[in-house]
Amino acid sequence: MVAMTIPPLALNNGVEMPALGFGVFQSPPEETAEAVETALRTGYRHIDTAAAYGNEREVGEAIRRSGLDRSEVFIETKVWVSDYGYEQTLHAFDKAAGKLGVEQIDLLILHQPAPKVFDATIAAYRALEKLLSDGLVRSVGVSNFMPWHLAPLLERTDVVPAVNQVELHPYFTQPQVQEADAEHGILTQAWSPIGGITFYPGWGEHRRSTLADPVLREIADSHGKTPAQVMLRWHLQQGRSAIPKSTNPARIAENFDVFDFELSAGEITRIDALDTGVRHGPDPDERDPLSLGITIPEA
Ligand code: A2P
Repeated sequence: MVAMTIPPLALNNGVEMPALGFGVFQSPPEETAEAVETALRTGYRHIDTAAAYGNEREVGEAIRRSGLDRSEVFIETKVWVSDYGYEQTLHAFDKAAGKLGVEQIDLLILHQPAPKVFDATIAAYRALEKLLSDGLVRSVGVSNFMPWHLAPLLERTDVVPAVNQVELHPYFTQPQVQEADAEHGILTQAWSPIGGITFYPGWGEHRRSTLADPVLREIADSHGKTPAQVMLRWHLQQGRSAIPKSTNPARIAENFDVFDFELSAGEITRIDALDTGVRHGPDPDERDPLSLGITIPEA
């Protein structure tokens, strides 16, 4: 397949990032390399991983195997909370770069705020700033930051995050987060952009899947597209970055095939109106991320 060019988004420091990326959350390490290789063959040029996903090594392997020049692929990864603190986060970069097999990371973000140890969160972000000024990362950001986490961060640090990656799909659109991000020139990036978290197997029963939503189905049918494609288009047309995950080659291709149709303003409004205001993922204020007991191995 001939790779088409994904429209880039300019981050607040001028770095360009492909708006549509490829996610690997919950991709088992043994399936990750193949999925990322398929994605790169399909045309994706932006991969989003995390230290806590345990598959950075496989992401790096796939990028090398693809034969693409390092400069052609935008790599985003996340520092896990157990590595927060200034020195610890500097070392977290070494671990991530070592596993990915790269000298420089395009976007390094804090995986989530740790409200109970917010000083350590600030120190971690200070380390990201140092990595940025040393040229080891090209941009820095955060994930799962609500406006009340963002405000003290902005007050106590110098570099405005380039990106805030949050749960965002038609059933949870986080208007306040989007507004706070926009006010500060932070790009909102959607995790679970097609609402995977509303239908991940084993994540609780009786959930309503975005894929089965009648409004999304109707809009999809009218364009000869799928609900997943409509949701991705909805993000892209509103200037957000989206990083759909799949390990299935047909769905990897489906999620990339979103550049040949356009939603109307009315359709976008109808999709916005599906918001339930109910979060499906962990609440960054309620669960202490350290209680998960995840630690990040050395490279
Ligand atoms: P799979 O990896 O088997 O394709 P999200 O990124 O919004 O969290 O969604 C990820 C979930 O959605 C995964 O369970 C993934 O499973 C599934 N998925 C990804 N793309 C599609 C698609 N186009 N249609 C249906 N399910 C999809």
